Amino acid sequence: MKDQKAAIVTGGASGIGQATVERLVRDGWAVVIGDVNEEAGEALAKAIRAANGQALFVRTDVRDEAAVETLVRRTVEAFGHLDGAVNSAGVPQSGSPIYDMSEADWNLCNDVNLRGMFFCLKHQIRAMWPNAHGAIVAVSSPAGVKALANSAAYCASKAGVNGLVRAAALDCAERNIRINALMPGATLTPLAQKAIASAPLLSAKKLWPMDRWGTPEEMGAAAVWMISDDASFMTGACMAVDGGMTAA
Ligand SMILES: NC(=O)c1ccc[n+]([C@@H]2O[C@H](COP(=O)([O-])OP(=O)(O)OC[C@H]3O[C@@H](n4cnc5c(N)ncnc54)[C@H](O)[C@@H]3O)[C@@H](O)[C@H]2O)c1
Repeated sequence: MKDQKAAIVTGGASGIGQATVERLVRDGWAVVIGDVNEEAGEALAKAIRAANGQALFVRTDVRDEAAVETLVRRTVEAFGHLDGAVNSAGVPQSGSPIYDMSEADWNLCNDVNLRGMFFCLKHQIRAMWPNAHGAIVAVSSPAGVKALANSAAYCASKAGVNGLVRAAALDCAERNIRINALMPGATLTPLAQKAIASAPLLSAKKLWPMDRWGTPEEMGAAAVWMISDDASFMTGACMAVDGGMTAA
């Protein structure tokens, strides 16, 4: 359907990305899921189609620029245009202090979280440019603005994402393409469970004022609002949805 809005969700096979996919479909969007997890991504797209929603899965490693380009091209081929994107693909680091951190840990975190985000923004913006319309959310983290123990690579990658978002927003503002960062607080997803397991400090009580975990659905709702027309004057912002973590 050419008049149905279409969005890409990277990392859409799990956690915050999956909740974003489900919320977009509920709000009437067609969605293309880009993820390395083929089994979960295909299953989600299939379940959405079975319930009469519009969804496709395109296996995408965001570290591979050609794969990201293909994800965007296939979205436009399938739905005629790209109206929104939520880039949620991300990895935690293994949880060691900087003096013990390996180059491999640094590279993985920065390749997926930052270099992959650059490829996504670049090709999504190119697809939106001819229509002078579109909105993108980069899923960042409070770690982009405050220090987390044993997480130097992760903090650096997310601070990089926030900088990338501000600069990209400036380059695209006059073209009516909005780019913002969502900084989710601690949200109970497989990634968070892995991070806690390797960095026990993260599981300490009362690290943030609201003293409970966020849900993937709360993050999905925020991301979908940010790419909706209700947020039409918002660009270059890094918005925390974090139970007060960054305020404290
Ligand atoms: N969960 C939290 O507490 C929390 C807090 C702050 C920020 N975040 C950020 O939210 C985003 C989503 O995290 P989540 O908690 O939903 O994690 P998750 O592990 O549930 O989901 C991440 C998804 O990204 C995919 N992925 C990983 N590497 C990829 C790659 N190279 N290419 C394509 N897809 C890839 C995974 O397969 C998975 O489906 C991440 O960017 C994360 O840094 C999460």
